[in-house]
Amino acid sequence: MALLDEDPTAGGFNGLKRLERTLPSHWYFDAAHHARELEAIWYRQWVYLCRADSIVHARDYRTFTIGTNRIVVLRDEEGTLRAFHNTCRHRGSILCKETAGHLQGVGITCPYHGWTYRLNGALASIPSHGRAHHLDKKEGALYPLTIKVWRGFVYVNLANADAGFADNFNANTEQFANWPLEDLQVGRRLTQRLACNWKVFWENYNECLHCPNVHPALSSLVPMYSRGIMEPRDDPAWETHASQTDAKFKGGLRTDATTWTVDGQSLGHEFSLTKAERDLGYHYMTSLPSHYLVLHIDHVRSTRVLALSAEEMELEIEWLFPKETLADPDIDISKACDFSAQVVTEDGAACEGVQLGLHAAPHDRGYLMPEEYDVYRFQQWVKASLGAA
Ligand code: FES
Ligand SMILES: [Fe+2]
Repeated sequence: MALLDEDPTAGGFNGLKRLERTLPSHWYFDAAHHARELEAIWYRQWVYLCRADSIVHARDYRTFTIGTNRIVVLRDEEGTLRAFHNTCRHRGSILCKETAGHLQGVGITCPYHGWTYRLNGALASIPSHGRAHHLDKKEGALYPLTIKVWRGFVYVNLANADAGFADNFNANTEQFANWPLEDLQVGRRLTQRLACNWKVFWENYNECLHCPNVHPALSSLVPMYSRGIMEPRDDPAWETHASQTDAKFKGGLRTDATTWTVDGQSLGHEFSLTKAERDLGYHYMTSLPSHYLVLHIDHVRSTRVLALSAEEMELEIEWLFPKETLADPDIDISKACDFSAQVVTEDGAACEGVQLGLHAAPHDRGYLMPEEYDVYRFQQWVKASLGAA
């Protein structure tokens, strides 16, 4: 019993200390299992939607889909963002059909029979000749949803849980205080559908064992990745190598590079960071199941993950820059965007390959290698979220 409860990731060496099996293969393609994950994870956790400044003016709105739930997020006349199920209280029609728009009249008008709702969700009018069985308008307000704006990023919680927002992040978010996240602007956006289960994507994100094979340019920029590891303590001989100053052993970027761009050179207009923050050259912040940031000295990359079905997901990547960078005619942001878009393309192809292979009838589970300790942690999180041992 003690052995089973022992944390195989504990200790100075990060790697797994015993052989672990992966999750059951059918968890990656079975529709009934996917429905369980929607209920247990996607409808309970905080899910990242968009940048707050993508809904700029009063009456602007955007719509989103999480699992089978349609959501509308709007800005009211006071400037507050509000979220509702995008569902009419009459007979359930979708309300806003476009992905984005500007609301006219009192607020939201249902396209089916014309019930209208104010920007705060209150039912405003019901077109009907009858009066006798008139619904009390208080009963007919839109279903509200809890949203939080964290440093310019809008999250929604379908369970309307107000607590636990900070728990959503893998790291203490204070450690990113030196990046002016709320002021950054989107310089490029890339939306991509991947033919894989959302967990395949996160598992790939959580290990670099694939880096030497899949990411030649990234492995050259981050020499430690060329060894298939993410941190010095992923190396079983980390104590022997502790005095090494080579980036292959201590982490960080190759000596002539300061950021993730095609030539490793900074775009300029760098953030006011500490020496340690600058020296590493990349920092990750993760909010499962839907969001991660990679922070550099001159730009930040935000990636949203949405599960579309058991075997399909959507990635939306936004490259965020200081206003000064985007206004500077001498700066070519594609140096940053092209570099990481290539990495994303390489990861996407690898993930789609996994999805194809997982269907083999005899392959009920795979194995985790020591370097895949964060895949193990992710899989433990999935199991715990599902209430599965
Ligand atoms: S379903 Fe919306 S008004 Fe009838
Ligand atoms: Fe990768």
